[in-house]
Amino acid sequence: MATLATRLTRSWGLEHPVVSAPMAFAGGGLLAAAVSRGGGLGLIGGGYGDATWLEEQFAAAQGSRIGVGFITWSLRKSPSLLTDILKHRPAAVMLSFGDPRPFVAEIRAAGARLICQCQDMAHVMDAADVRADAVVAQGAEAGGHGALRGAITFVPEAADYLESHAPDTLLLAAGGIADGRGLAAALMLGADGALVGTRLWASKEALVHARHHQAILETDGDGTIRTRAPDIARQIPWPKGFTARVRRNAFTDRWHGREDELERNASAEGARYRKGFAEGDPENTGVWFGEAAGLIRSIEPAADIVARMVADARACLDQERIRK
Ligand SMILES: Cc1cc2nc3c(=O)[nH]c(=O)nc-3n(C[C@H](O)[C@H](O)[C@H](O)COP(=O)(O)O)c2cc1C
Repeated sequence: MATLATRLTRSWGLEHPVVSAPMAFAGGGLLAAAVSRGGGLGLIGGGYGDATWLEEQFAAAQGSRIGVGFITWSLRKSPSLLTDILKHRPAAVMLSFGDPRPFVAEIRAAGARLICQCQDMAHVMDAADVRADAVVAQGAEAGGHGALRGAITFVPEAADYLESHAPDTLLLAAGGIADGRGLAAALMLGADGALVGTRLWASKEALVHARHHQAILETDGDGTIRTRAPDIARQIPWPKGFTARVRRNAFTDRWHGREDELERNASAEGARYRKGFAEGDPENTGVWFGEAAGLIRSIEPAADIVARMVADARACLDQERIRK
């Protein structure tokens, strides 16, 4: 099996410099365990914090060495969730979308590594300030929630900042990394590894409806949009500055740009949205994936995806694959 040693693999004891994104609803214990068993580090998506679901997912991971991620602004509303989850001794806790400070001491005291996902340089500065073990520089290509920076400038800018202000903090790149080329590019931009969401959403172990899996195979990289529409329909109060990248479909065509009207109709639309989501409707609900859709041609076991990504990145780096 090809390997790729980086600061991340060496200091966290991983075979591969690949971490699976803690995807709300889609990233359960089976996916996290498959990624960890495949040599990376799998993270369960703590999402908006359903304690029963989280317990089930840790049980499904059957003791594999995994971590968990939380939406920080949501966790502030029910901080006991973190206390409960730390009893499972996760290898790492990722915080994203909010100030990490209220949770840093508790995570450290439990012996878990702290990963802070960042969408702009101000977030990177906050993460460096709390001496996060790893920063994720998330580009706007990413599936799910995020913001505006493009990964190709954000990752090296974050790398430069961390090198001078927090040299022990590792850097992961996120947003659009779906194959060996993306992983190799992330390392060239100064990252120590990659946080991968969309590509692993399209895996056998992800908790994704078969019809939504079919939809990603039929969508190219132009077929997604950043929008507030799913959050308005679901009545989830996301802070300003963050939008969701989802598949462009009948739902987003209808409501993107008509947010005020959607807000007025949110209870009826929310019910439709949830029904569509449960049924795997590819059109009348949020279908959560990023621009990497255009690079995905099959739904495969997560460990195979990770192994191929690493082998292809290794080949890219060895051969200095530049078209002549
Ligand atoms: C379906 C889905 C759900 C996501 N949910 C979360 C989440 O709950 N918390 C979080 O920090 N990030 C979440 N993200 C964003 C990921 O952490 C990550 O930044 C992103 O997937 C990386 O870009 P990629 O999708 O192009 O690989 C989600 C992404 C996807 C695709």
